[in-house]
Amino acid sequence: MSTMYTDKVMDHFMNPRNMGEVENANAVAQVGNPVCGDVMRMTLRIDDDDRITDIKFKTFGCGAAIASSSIMTEIIKGMTIDEALRVTNKAVTDALGGLPAQKRHCSVLAEEGIHNALRAFFEEHPERSTPERLELLAKAKKRRPEDPHAVA
Ligand code: FES
Repeated sequence: MSTMYTDKVMDHFMNPRNMGEVENANAVAQVGNPVCGDVMRMTLRIDDDDRITDIKFKTFGCGAAIASSSIMTEIIKGMTIDEALRVTNKAVTDALGGLPAQKRHCSVLAEEGIHNALRAFFEEHPERSTPERLELLAKAKKRRPEDPHAVA
């Protein structure tokens, strides 16, 4: 049976990595897509050296959203805050070997989840935020479409 999804998407959908909730998380966000109703929760543990030592997700949504969150956790785990802030939804679709056009917004949800978790972390720990970090968050937010389904 042929599928519009790559083997990589199917693999991450059938065997999601890092699913669940980080117990001692200090950066948490839940994002939703109002159009399709999908919900994604990201929990991260950031250590004193700004490194993301643990990350888990819970996604209620389509296969592409589950695969996007799963691979996003693999990409982000072990990165520093500054590296993670530069990870876009394109990195997710590239790592998955592509997503069908009508499913690209699912990868945007994963980017938004990480960014919102980092924003929540900076709000909780203002001493860990810098103007450059906040600017990266603001730029990415501007780049993300208002209606995620409009992703080209
Ligand atoms: S269909 Fe909307 S996140 Fe997948």
